[in-house]
Amino acid sequence: MRHFLTLKDFSKDEILEMIDLAIAIKKEAKAKNYVPYLKDQTLGMIFEKSSTRTRVSFEVGIHQLGGKGLFLSSNDLQLGRGEPMKDTARVISRMVDMVMIRTFAQSTLEEFARYSKVPVISGLSDSYHPVQLMADYLTMVEYNKAKNPIVAYVGDGNNMTHSWLMMASKLGFELRIATPKGYEVDESILADALAFAKQSGAVIKIGNDPKEAISGATVVTTDTWVSMGQESEKAKRVADFQGYMVDEAMMALAHKDAMFLHCLPAYRDYEVSEAVFEAHADEIFDEAENRLHAQKKP
Ligand code: CP
Ligand code: NVA
Repeated sequence: MRHFLTLKDFSKDEILEMIDLAIAIKKEAKAKNYVPYLKDQTLGMIFEKSSTRTRVSFEVGIHQLGGKGLFLSSNDLQLGRGEPMKDTARVISRMVDMVMIRTFAQSTLEEFARYSKVPVISGLSDSYHPVQLMADYLTMVEYNKAKNPIVAYVGDGNNMTHSWLMMASKLGFELRIATPKGYEVDESILADALAFAKQSGAVIKIGNDPKEAISGATVVTTDTWVSMGQESEKAKRVADFQGYMVDEAMMALAHKDAMFLHCLPAYRDYEVSEAVFEAHADEIFDEAENRLHAQKKP
């Protein structure tokens, strides 16, 4: 039994196979040919944090595959009143065929998986957002940006940055990360990525200068400065991230045909300017739609 908790656990070939599969399944879905690969199977979806894309894409995705999605908010589950995660895992995994969880600590996901009888998929933790990266890479493929890309990530060293680190270091492309001082990526995740990069040939550059990171980049990406769970730090973060907004002047330093990706939700005139966002809206909303396709697997 295989879980999907981080891209760290998958090889380059496995990741690319899943992307090829997503392309094929998307083609079927676009033709309204919903093949019931997962007929009558149930996906439990546990949410300890808010969600628009993750909830809708998993629920619609499992429906299109012939199964059923069960939305389980921790506010309503006994989990919210203190029932341990390991007990929740042992109960729910006896009744459903697979589980998706959005939670805080990565260790919570790992604990659930340890006690689960069925495969567990991460729908985001504080450390990683692997299903988002599958959609992001699929979008790069569709826009012909997946061959020898130079990806620049400007902003907070967070779950998205860590997932970009895993994707780049597994697939072997160049990733430049620019965060403000004090908001760098997790050291142990970076060490893992650098070890994978040695095998794959990926070039990983870490720094604090957004302009240097963006110069000549073919893919530019960012994420919110205030992730879920960090709301009380908002004022300090907004002050510390000044100079890190991806605006038109910043984008002008990238390759002239550079694409811009954002996992959403986007906060205009914080991490990205309204003008850059709207100029790249087609790419961004294709990326959002690709959550639906990239998460499906027969
Ligand atoms: N990008 C993403 O995961 O969005 P949601 O938080 O809306 O699920
Ligand atoms: N870094 C963001 C991603 C949201 C999809 C968060 O964790 O809130």
